[in-house]
Amino acid sequence: MDKLHVNLGEDSYDICFSADFSGLAAELKAIDAPKKLLVVTDSNVEKLYASEVNELLIENGYDSAVYAFKAGEENKSMDSILGICGACIEHGLDRKSMMIALGGGVVGDMAGFAAAIYMRGVRFVQVPTTLLSQSDSSVGGKTGIDFMESKNILGAFHQPKLVYINVSTLKTLPEEQFVSGMGEVIKHGIIRDEKFYAFLKENVDAVKSLDTDILIKMAKTNCSIKANVVEQDEKENGLRAILNFGHTIGHAVESAFNFKMTHGACVGLGMVAVSKIALDRGMIDEGILKDIESVLCAYNFDIRAELPPAESIYGFMHKDKKKTNGRLKFVLPVRIGEVMQTSDVTDEEIFSAIKYISK
Ligand SMILES: NC(=O)c1ccc[n+]([C@@H]2O[C@H](COP(=O)([O-])OP(=O)(O)OC[C@H]3O[C@@H](n4cnc5c(N)ncnc54)[C@H](O)[C@@H]3O)[C@@H](O)[C@H]2O)c1
Repeated sequence: MDKLHVNLGEDSYDICFSADFSGLAAELKAIDAPKKLLVVTDSNVEKLYASEVNELLIENGYDSAVYAFKAGEENKSMDSILGICGACIEHGLDRKSMMIALGGGVVGDMAGFAAAIYMRGVRFVQVPTTLLSQSDSSVGGKTGIDFMESKNILGAFHQPKLVYINVSTLKTLPEEQFVSGMGEVIKHGIIRDEKFYAFLKENVDAVKSLDTDILIKMAKTNCSIKANVVEQDEKENGLRAILNFGHTIGHAVESAFNFKMTHGACVGLGMVAVSKIALDRGMIDEGILKDIESVLCAYNFDIRAELPPAESIYGFMHKDKKKTNGRLKFVLPVRIGEVMQTSDVTDEEIFSAIKYISK
């Protein structure tokens, strides 16, 4: 099994890369998983993979059951968390039991949060099934829900005990969701790894045709970039905030659209917007902005959109938690592979950047 180790002291764990689910039971055994398991998933992934995973666990001696909540970001709520906790009680999970988060970032964030609070914390495993969750959200231990129109405003740091990535699940993912995941993938190249960015430029067709070897290679590089940042700054006191590249404006666009546009599509627009701020500040030249735009276009992103009013996006930015002493935090590109953090972006720069990404 292809593996990567995330080094977080007592909270260390492995990420496994595979083209099927067959190795999952052995990996659970290796982390000394308890008999009692609850597979938490959403209503879409339930139909596709829940039976296969649950039966595999039962065949291997686990007392496993499935709980599914209604799919969609709009259900990333406290009501859904209470539903998961209710299922834990009904299935008889105790403090030694374990949850298996089978699904995309919404499932991972919610099962992780439920695992953080159920009986003051039980263990959980991430089995991500979207590109976004396989390249980003399943690694790093951030869990949470949306509340009062604010994204991920309630949550906890709770590291998984294992991440098991089956890249073949991407074959059933709707194209729009694949594009969304590519937002975080391209982000990783821009913030941290020029070679990976070049790899993405060179392999557009192979990535889009879901070549298994390329997907595993891509997943491994993504996870190692994310893990390396998280290892240096687990609780986001500094470096980890660079992962928010494109998110300050992106999250606000996502909220202003009432989550009708995918997370990654909004992050793509957000990355273009902050790159424009960097260009106007003379930090990057126009070639870099155009190159970022062309890579996004190659992976089917819209780099301009009919946006809600700029004032509304600006309002949502101020509801976000990416602030220090009341000032918004931004991540700006310095070159491909390096970014810097700043809190001195002016309202004028923000409105001009929103105008730039508007159709
Ligand atoms: N914790 C973190 O560090 C972190 C990082 C980035 C994003 N996030 C969060 O992740 C969430 C977005 O995650 P997402 O993009 O995976 O969304 P998602 O979980 O909503 O999944 C997208 C859609 O794809 C469906 N789906 C999942 N796997 C499938 C498969 N293999 N085949 C067919 N359909 C499938 C889902 O049911 C859903 O309808 C957001 O809530 C965001 O805040 C968290």
